[in-house]
Amino acid sequence: MSEFEGERIAKVIARAGICSRRDAERLIGEGRVKLNGAVLRAAATNVTAKDKILVDGKPLPVKEETRLWRYHKPAGLVVSNNDPEGRPTVFEKLREQLPRVISIGRLDINTEGLLLLTNDGELARYLELPATGWIRRYRVRAYGRVDDAALAKVAKGVEIEGIKYGPVEAKVETSQGDNQWLTVAIREGKNREVKKICEYLGLKVNRLIRTSFGPFQLGELARGGIEEVPPKVMKSNIGTGFFKDSHADRRRKIQRS
Ligand code: URA
Repeated sequence: MSEFEGERIAKVIARAGICSRRDAERLIGEGRVKLNGAVLRAAATNVTAKDKILVDGKPLPVKEETRLWRYHKPAGLVVSNNDPEGRPTVFEKLREQLPRVISIGRLDINTEGLLLLTNDGELARYLELPATGWIRRYRVRAYGRVDDAALAKVAKGVEIEGIKYGPVEAKVETSQGDNQWLTVAIREGKNREVKKICEYLGLKVNRLIRTSFGPFQLGELARGGIEEVPPKVMKSNIGTGFFKDSHADRRRKIQRS
């Protein structure tokens, strides 16, 4: 018996990389999915590797091997596929160099530094989960002054405008005129988290650089530069929590059985 046995069809469609699980449920609702020759009506249907699934008459694509890239995002690019304001996006910049990729989390337009990119939507979602809890480290230049006593106020987490932020590890590195450089480490990556926390401390961020995301470092990667993480390094750093059950592994097992 393969591990692929008895999985929800929407999950299997989503994992093939063509859409999200919710979209797959919608496709089923619209009668666009066939299971073993018959139009499927119930999204709560389990399938195995032996079942024939067609979406809009086409078989599911065989998913590519998961790949991961480190990208040094420059300031001024939006992390979005389509910016309603027409600003340049990271994906336009990278289109010629990479296959179709998505980002693992986002950085604001003026934030620089490490952005992880992958061709695997499932991996992106996994690494963005609060439960994965990877530390994101930043170098922050901010206008104003804080001291250790002020930074201690956010060390155990803080609520700002009704949003709860987890523990923040922050340290002043140097002062430069009216600015200070700090290092800030957070685990969740909520919307504009570093800026909100700095504002709460009376600081105004004017430069923000992500230096690491979990085990992956910005290192010496040049601004605008991109480098693929070798598959072995990627797998050993991400761990079996994701790769043990990965689709590619399951496929290999199915092909061998
Ligand atoms: N925190 C922010 O405020 N902005 C970012 O881009 C990343 C973290």
